[in-house]
Amino acid sequence: MKVKNTWINGDCLKELKKMDDGCVDLIITSPPYHNLRVYSNDPSDLSNCESYEEYYYLLGLVIAECQRVLKPGGKFCMQYEDYNYTIGRDGRRGKESITGAINKMFTDNGFCLWSEICWEKYTPQRAMISDGSLWYRNLKVRDTIIAANFGYVYVYKKSTDGLMSRESGSDITLEEWATWASGVWKIPNSSIGGANHMTPFAYELCRRLIKLYSCPGDTILDPFAGSGTCNRAAIENHRNAIGIELKKEFYDAAQEIFNKWDEAVFESDDSYEKMLERFKEQLQIGELNKEKGKAEKEEMKEMRDRKKELCAEIKLLEAQLNELGMKKSEIKKLKDSVGDVID
Ligand SMILES: C[S@@+](CC[C@H](N)C(=O)[O-])C[C@H]1O[C@@H](n2cnc3c(N)ncnc32)[C@H](O)[C@@H]1O
Repeated sequence: MKVKNTWINGDCLKELKKMDDGCVDLIITSPPYHNLRVYSNDPSDLSNCESYEEYYYLLGLVIAECQRVLKPGGKFCMQYEDYNYTIGRDGRRGKESITGAINKMFTDNGFCLWSEICWEKYTPQRAMISDGSLWYRNLKVRDTIIAANFGYVYVYKKSTDGLMSRESGSDITLEEWATWASGVWKIPNSSIGGANHMTPFAYELCRRLIKLYSCPGDTILDPFAGSGTCNRAAIENHRNAIGIELKKEFYDAAQEIFNKWDEAVFESDDSYEKMLERFKEQLQIGELNKEKGKAEKEEMKEMRDRKKELCAEIKLLEAQLNELGMKKSEIKKLKDSVGDVID
């Protein structure tokens, strides 16, 4: 199997319009916000919108195009956060909640909410370094501000007519699933590979979403691709990647990293069938672990029962010794000398 990395410099709204209906299996993105950071002076940069109305209108158009290019039943993983105004550009205090507005955009465009993940990006101690209002000496009771050290990933599903299909199989190991099944992911918000971007995705976040919601050989799209983290995670996990980034500097920096890739990264003998095989192997490991756990539990129960029996026998012996005239203090001394065994 050979996978392909498509890396596009341009406005995602225009570029998405050039793509065919239903050509993408999974979309993962973290959009720009309208009043948080300025990425470029380009008028089509969503971070340059004049108002929330304009921002939500344009983001809604992008989501509608994404819905068109996504296969029926495909997932759209939207990473964003309800951020503190204190780190925004308009000098207000409090929180900006965009959860409701984003959810409405998705449901208006024929998506249904499928799963939610709370992403703990860093410790409150790290948040304190950049926000003095979180320091204990600045604590204002009745006006307390809590660290905004987490974000969300909302996973939407493009609705299908009739029953939702549920594919079995995955290239996720049993061990990975034990952590990933949680609705709270603790992943340090650090990029890999020297990305030249102020808000890059955590690679591990992308990797998990890709493995959870797609199969080897599928096509993953990021319409606001920034430093190309999603492209990298897709290719390195044997999926095709399409990334669209508006700012030329970000585009070029990522292209430089992609240029250093060895051709071997695009070649893989991985396949959907191999994924199913691996899944079966992991299921067997799970079954073996279950059997082992059951045997250990039974062994523990046998030991507990034996201990109970021994204690009863000791009590009987104590009573007999007492009847034969041995003092309780002498019996205790005798018991202590045998130690823990009879405790
Ligand atoms: C939050 S960042 C994404 C970072 C990315 N997840 C990464 O790993 O680097 C949002 C990106 O959207 C880009 N952007 C803004 N408006 C855009 C548009 N209309 N089309 C494509 N990209 C856009 C910005 O330049 C910025 O790099």
